[in-house]
Amino acid sequence: MTTTLTSEDLYQRVKHVVPAVEWATMAADAAAILRLKHERNAVILAHNYMTPEIFHAVADITGDSLALAREATDVDAEVIVLAGVHFMAETAKLLNPSKTVLIPDLRSGCSLAESITAADVRALRAAHPGVPVVTYVNTSAAVKAESDICCTSGNAVAVIESLGVPKVIMIPDQYLAANIARQTGVEVITHPGACEVHERFTPSDIADIRDGYPGVTVVAHPECPPAVVDASDFAGSTAQMVDFVAAKHPKQVALITECSMSDNVAQQFPGTDFVRPCNLCPHMKRNTLGSIRHALETMTNEVTVPDDVADRARAAVTRMLEVKVAR
Ligand code: 13P
Ligand code: SF4
Repeated sequence: MTTTLTSEDLYQRVKHVVPAVEWATMAADAAAILRLKHERNAVILAHNYMTPEIFHAVADITGDSLALAREATDVDAEVIVLAGVHFMAETAKLLNPSKTVLIPDLRSGCSLAESITAADVRALRAAHPGVPVVTYVNTSAAVKAESDICCTSGNAVAVIESLGVPKVIMIPDQYLAANIARQTGVEVITHPGACEVHERFTPSDIADIRDGYPGVTVVAHPECPPAVVDASDFAGSTAQMVDFVAAKHPKQVALITECSMSDNVAQQFPGTDFVRPCNLCPHMKRNTLGSIRHALETMTNEVTVPDDVADRARAAVTRMLEVKVAR
């Protein structure tokens, strides 16, 4: 992306979802971000839950947690701005440690990451000696450092199957663990963590959507409770949701996940009507054009990982990336 793009060029990318009157309040920040990316030799990696003006107008690379981890490894630019949440920025730093990694708002946490500490993982290991620890990337680097391997929702089945064991400790998302246990047949010991966005969906929400939109295809994120996944037609990571819509071309689809997801992908599928039941992630929503601009202008909100944790955490993430999956 170059600085020669005009505000009108940028608006063309978002006009399907951002009204002109709103864009008028965003254009100056978007233009400043393009200029600053050039001056700082920076790229913006943005999660699929970013608002459309971030996702479409200023991001260089977008995707699910797995894609962002993979892409972070290959960044040549000096600065990575991780438009997402703190654990994603830590993962980028682990995988490309010579880069300066900034996060637009240091308070962008995650209810899953906050649910578990390194001491909790050590206690689980002590209670279940010899059982491998598979840790969702939605955790701190300190928790990853206590783990054998990481996973995302996009590769959890492949990661578990790669271990070839009958039992794993899979933390900290109790619902992802339960959903993956059913898919793999592997016994899973878990932890009572949950995503505050996806745990709020219920089977009766799905029944209401089906009543309101007869024939609708329902696609859920596997951080949803198993009863919600059971009531849906497919479950997968945010990238797998997109792949599913691309492959099946449903007439009407409901993505049971964070609110920005449908806004970001709807334009890609003009033949599909997106019903938009959703829950907002307050942590993801701390990312704004203003906070991205501020981080780049001041070069503040740098994310680092202490040396004593980094090598062990990196090993668990790298092992995950070595497990081959299509996406
Ligand atoms: P994925 O994009 O990897 O599916 O993750 C969803 C999520 O909740 C990230 O915080
Ligand atoms: Fe964490 Fe859920 Fe928000 Fe993702 S959507 S950052 S899992 S709280």
